[in-house]
Amino acid sequence: MRVEPLTCAIGAELSGLDLGAASRDPLAMAEIRALLLRHKVLFFRDQAITRAEHVAFARHFGELEDHPVAGSDPEHPGLVRIYKSPDAPNDRYENGWHTDATWRDKPPFGCVLRCVECPPVGGDTMWANMALAYERLPWHLKEQIAGLRARHSIEATFGAAMPIERRLALKAQFPDAEHPVVRTHPETGEQILFVNAFTTHFTNFHTAANVRCGLDYAPGASLLLNYLVSQVQIPEYQVRWRWKPNSVAMWDNRSTQHYAVMDYPPCHRKMERAGIVGDTPF
Ligand code: SIN
Repeated sequence: MRVEPLTCAIGAELSGLDLGAASRDPLAMAEIRALLLRHKVLFFRDQAITRAEHVAFARHFGELEDHPVAGSDPEHPGLVRIYKSPDAPNDRYENGWHTDATWRDKPPFGCVLRCVECPPVGGDTMWANMALAYERLPWHLKEQIAGLRARHSIEATFGAAMPIERRLALKAQFPDAEHPVVRTHPETGEQILFVNAFTTHFTNFHTAANVRCGLDYAPGASLLLNYLVSQVQIPEYQVRWRWKPNSVAMWDNRSTQHYAVMDYPPCHRKMERAGIVGDTPF
């Protein structure tokens, strides 16, 4: 197996292995897990694997979960279809920078995403290293956010485009989650800046330590949240991956955010994603 880092901050391309065969080889899987922790996103080309092999590979890391809005392959539960086509122009919006499903109490461990079809150019995906984003914050901000917690909402994001009845039903099924603003990686011990597009507000900001007068709270708290959320945009924390059919990316969802670049209409783009169940952030 050859390992080539793609930037100084995040991401490595692995070559010389087939993911179908690797998932039957415990030594290869242990090495892939160690490389995932080190590089946070792993990239693979030319993986002409079946959907069953895709699922089997991802299952080594935990149970898979469906997505309440994006549908899954009927024969392979847990394999979410992210299909964009010119025939569904209202479904063309793409995501912003986010960590997957932080509106869950237990956001995913990670995901394995395979490209089925992509435009000849465009439709890249970007990832950012949120441990590095935390590490590079000024020390006084690290002190201020040390004990902060924040709310994460599917209602305010996926729900926003729905009629009110569907939106409220979605919220009843997935009530907002609350997570620490800085989480600790359960395997590496890294501190991670853990706010993203699903984060709506801090839940324990309004204290004497943070608020001297009204402006500190409104708009002070949301300005601070915006500043923290904006850190993901710093190019030095990022990697950008150009897809080809049968390319695969696997990311550690606990320590990264990603962004699917929406620059390719009216082309088709078909991706299949196995999302792996995670644990409670602390
Ligand atoms: C995702 O946001 O999980 C999918 C990213 C992509 O389609 O590139």
